[in-house]
Amino acid sequence: MIDLNTMVDPGQGRNDPRIYTDQDVYQRELEYVFGRTWLFLAHESQLPKPGSFIQTYMAEDPVLVVRQRDGSVKAFLNQCRHRGMRICRSDAGVSKAFTCTYHGWSYDLEGNLINVPLEERAYRNEIDKSEWGALKVPRIANYRGFYFGTWSQETPEFEDYLGDMAFYFDAVVDRFDGGLDLAPGTTKWVIDCNWKFAAEQFASDMYHVPVSHASGLTALSDGLEVTAPLPSLEMPGRQFGGNGHGSGGFFSQERASRPPFIGEATYAWLRSREKETAERLGIDRAHKVHNHNTVFPNFSWLGNGFWTMRVWHPRGPGQIEVWSWTYLPKNAPAEVRAEIRQMTQRTFSPAGSFETDDGENWTEIQRNLRGYKARHNTFHTGMGLGHEEYDVHGLPGESNDVFAEHAARSFYRRWSDLVKGKSWTEIQESDKTRALSMSERP
Ligand code: FES
Ligand SMILES: [Fe+2]
Repeated sequence: MIDLNTMVDPGQGRNDPRIYTDQDVYQRELEYVFGRTWLFLAHESQLPKPGSFIQTYMAEDPVLVVRQRDGSVKAFLNQCRHRGMRICRSDAGVSKAFTCTYHGWSYDLEGNLINVPLEERAYRNEIDKSEWGALKVPRIANYRGFYFGTWSQETPEFEDYLGDMAFYFDAVVDRFDGGLDLAPGTTKWVIDCNWKFAAEQFASDMYHVPVSHASGLTALSDGLEVTAPLPSLEMPGRQFGGNGHGSGGFFSQERASRPPFIGEATYAWLRSREKETAERLGIDRAHKVHNHNTVFPNFSWLGNGFWTMRVWHPRGPGQIEVWSWTYLPKNAPAEVRAEIRQMTQRTFSPAGSFETDDGENWTEIQRNLRGYKARHNTFHTGMGLGHEEYDVHGLPGESNDVFAEHAARSFYRRWSDLVKGKSWTEIQESDKTRALSMSERP
């Protein structure tokens, strides 16, 4: 059995690769990480009216997210209390109630059991339906139209959980007057890799971009009059990491002309909105490119030109289901919205030119870890270790150079504290101590 106390060492920049393969670790993740963190459930645009629902997962647990008659959003385990079928098997829709397709138990929009077939004959009217409702997700948070849920009463309030990451999340979700919506439908695919490779990369890894995506960038630039595609190796830039979250590439790069992955109409529209964006976010935050991001544990997105959001649903230690959406500025002209969807399909989708680069790396690593020696060969996560700074360059919280693994270490620190079973009170105490010691550094 892997030693939970030494499996990751963010202070030294070391990871034991068995954290990506071990079944016991995985079972602890389901209970102590996914059971005690805020998980993305839905965006408000997916639940337009009373009775609107979507089906999703909180890690491996199926849940239904439902707009109530009073406009609020509730969620419950999509599992019938009779023998455990999914109560609802549609991906999304509008309904007045949900009826299990096995024996027909029915549940209302909140998940209360409201009908069992043959109640008089089969149950002699002796079943107390009020006791047999679906398991409710006890806490739901709505952050700027994004709904998150947690099973735990102990998890801090969502804003506290987000901490300094709010600044980076807002840079995308609060960017446009009128907000965002998600293009209808969810694109889903399977990658044979551990979920942490994906979540960590989106939190932290700008280092792979010039290498892994070199061919995709070249192909996309072909024949277009464009500036050098991102990122230049000299660009000044930072990465944020805190509370387990990460904003992996927040950097200043002047875009004198259109990058290859942004369509013409979109580019012109974005330029025309520059003043508005600067007013909303401040000029610095508006103009900086802020690329990949993860809200711990498994909700990620790309900014500035790659309009994708996704959840990395774990499926055992060696597999994920990616559920992804294209997010769109609600008030953008139809032509721009169509172009964004097309460009996002071209870059980040199952067949996208960059997406496939990433998936290939993660699958290959996972395959290597079948080897006994490979699985016991420590990984180096020490890039930029000791060079973190606090509240610098107008960026809140702990940041480091854009080419660093600071956010990865923050991710693994939070992950291991949770997997070990530390309480949220303990975790928050150590966060405070760390912030204090960082802010007092010369
Ligand atoms: S499993 Fe749902 S009614 Fe029997
Ligand atoms: Fe990538």
